[in-house]
Amino acid sequence: MTQSNELRVYGGIKIYAGTASPDLAQKVADYLGEALCGRDIVEFPNENIFVRLHSSVRGQDVYVIQHTASPVNRNLMELLILLQTLRLDSAARITAVVPYLCYGRSDKKDQPRVPITSRLVADMIQIAGADRYMTLDPHAYQIQGFFSVPGDVLNASSILMEYIKENLRPFLKDPVVVTVDLGYAKKGRNFAAIIDAPIAFIEKRRVINNAKAEALTIIGDVKDRDVILVDDEIDTGGSIVQAVNLVKESGAQRVYVSFVHPIFSDNAAERLAALPVTEYITTDSVPILAEKREAFGKRLTILTVAPLLGEVIRRAHEGRSVGQMFNE
Ligand code: R5P
Repeated sequence: MTQSNELRVYGGIKIYAGTASPDLAQKVADYLGEALCGRDIVEFPNENIFVRLHSSVRGQDVYVIQHTASPVNRNLMELLILLQTLRLDSAARITAVVPYLCYGRSDKKDQPRVPITSRLVADMIQIAGADRYMTLDPHAYQIQGFFSVPGDVLNASSILMEYIKENLRPFLKDPVVVTVDLGYAKKGRNFAAIIDAPIAFIEKRRVINNAKAEALTIIGDVKDRDVILVDDEIDTGGSIVQAVNLVKESGAQRVYVSFVHPIFSDNAAERLAALPVTEYITTDSVPILAEKREAFGKRLTILTVAPLLGEVIRRAHEGRSVGQMFNE
């Protein structure tokens, strides 16, 4: 989508919730002091999705909030249809706010004859009508290069870090931050610096095209220390199960697990709840079903990303710096 350099003036903020993210969208709207805009979203018996807006968005600055975790393909298609509906109704600017962006792990051709689905998703979001996008902690930040429209790729992990620094750090014994794989090393280092702790890494080998991960070795010292395992998402829980077992076998004391996106596929919640973990700390980027939340009892802390998204939306609307808010 081509961008014009001419000065553009937008109308008011309009917030739409897809069916995947109603609670988060409501919290974002509350933060901004706005009401969610009315819309009908219907799925017909043949699984076709139909959208109708209750009022005109002509000339408005519109934000559509919809995660694309399970059911992935349905949520993605609904997002695309919402974007196209807004485009056809002459919105002045449309931002796809996708707290969790699907297909993030399909970001390169690392074997012959495979797709780069993450690129395809970026193309579809733009073609459907998005002038901008906003997302949280993608699996790989290089996906920004798949978009030719501007975006705000935000770090919800900073919310987790602040919580740990304020609420846990004073009570931890010789804490060490451990990344679940080497791909998260850079984020892990930031994490460790913020809570003033050393860092260790798990070297993980994943069997190609198989959801099962295999944790191999720890690089660093966890013996007699409290461990904070950090990762971007928990999907099946395979990586965390192996990571927790590995640090425990290596002499770790208490184990905490911090991750941004609680995908919790299959029976991940039950598997995680059975582990010797003191506390799981995550966000509401993706809603967790009540029965899955209950499996954890009081050991699950969910921090909201709504103020982060709301503030970035406010600044995007007002044409103010987003980067600056992290220095304030
Ligand atoms: C993978 O590289 C990611 O950082 C996560 O470790 C992964 O998505 C977790 O998947 P699972 O919970 O299925 O092991």
